[in-house]
Amino acid sequence: MDQKYLVEVENLKQYFPVAGGKLFEKKVVKAVDNVSFGIKKGETLGLVGESGCGKTTTGRTLLRLYEPTAGKIYFEGEDITKANMLPYRQKMQIVFQDPYASLDPRMTVGDIIGEAIDIHHLAASKKDRQDQIISVLSTVGLNSEHANRYPHEFSGGQRQRVGIARALAVDPQFIVCDEPVSALDVSIQAQVVNMFEQLQEERGLTYLFIAHDLSIVKHISNRIGVMYLGKLVELADSYELTFHSVHPYTKSLISAIPIADPKTSRTSQRIVLEGDVPSPVNPPSGCRFRTRCPYADELCAASEPEWREVSSGHYAACHHLDKVN
Ligand SMILES: Nc1ncnc2c1ncn2[C@@H]1O[C@H](COP(=O)(O)OP(=O)(O)OP(=O)(O)O)[C@@H](O)[C@H]1O
Ligand SMILES: [Mg+2]
Repeated sequence: MDQKYLVEVENLKQYFPVAGGKLFEKKVVKAVDNVSFGIKKGETLGLVGESGCGKTTTGRTLLRLYEPTAGKIYFEGEDITKANMLPYRQKMQIVFQDPYASLDPRMTVGDIIGEAIDIHHLAASKKDRQDQIISVLSTVGLNSEHANRYPHEFSGGQRQRVGIARALAVDPQFIVCDEPVSALDVSIQAQVVNMFEQLQEERGLTYLFIAHDLSIVKHISNRIGVMYLGKLVELADSYELTFHSVHPYTKSLISAIPIADPKTSRTSQRIVLEGDVPSPVNPPSGCRFRTRCPYADELCAASEPEWREVSSGHYAACHHLDKVN
């Protein structure tokens, strides 16, 4: 546990049981497998990786929306792995990826936000409650009229604003933003990302910002972690990760980002990965990335690479950093 972090996870594991194993054989999906990181107060930690690598599970387990299989979770230095979460639910919120599925269609927007206020007894009176609802709606660019409407009456971008308002209504310190813009039209993604940034500046919020696209998180994040098949493979300052990544998987993600100006030539070689992500039920032995890694050899199959600090604040897990870089 490190005091400089607002939120920290240590050796976090989340294994889900899966059906279909042989009799007496318990199969599990190792959705998150021994992941450790911290998030400093006021910063945004980006978390990226391909679909199914465990980003959402990491975010939800860290909030104890799923009970961890193993590992520790700390908030403000307190071990909350087994704590009663009610007081922490107010401090730690989530904005979901899908603004269509995450809002109850039978409730008005006012009631959706009001419910969050009620759970934590944050309103002194009915009028105070109504004022708080209107105030938080205006914070996200909506108004008092919107409070009486139902989610289906809103556009995707507006719904996500409602989801953000619901999270903000309890005045949290930390928000897991689980791909909050990926379901939205590209034209409004930037607006919503800007809103997250502005809210952070005004309220000193701390974010875990999940995305599968590095191009979205590299602007908003102070630091970025890269996941592959339930593991963190690299974590560094955003600039460092974007320009001096050391892990072959991160390099492949970065080389997949289109370059805006075609006249600018790439300084690094384009790495195209072959094959698909293996199943997290039967992950490869040793390094999980080895089946798609151009540098893999026997060592990678035989042993798992250690997660280590390669330069100040820059972590990676790879046996062949010298060969790769
Ligand atoms: N509740 C669950 N029960 C069983 N398996 C699950 C559950 N939630 C996730 N998984 C599995 O765990 C793995 C990680 O899933 P997760 O949703 O965390 O990935 P993700 O990185 O968020 O992907 P995406 O980019 O598609 O949102 C996947 O193999 C998924 O099928
Ligand atoms: Mg997800």
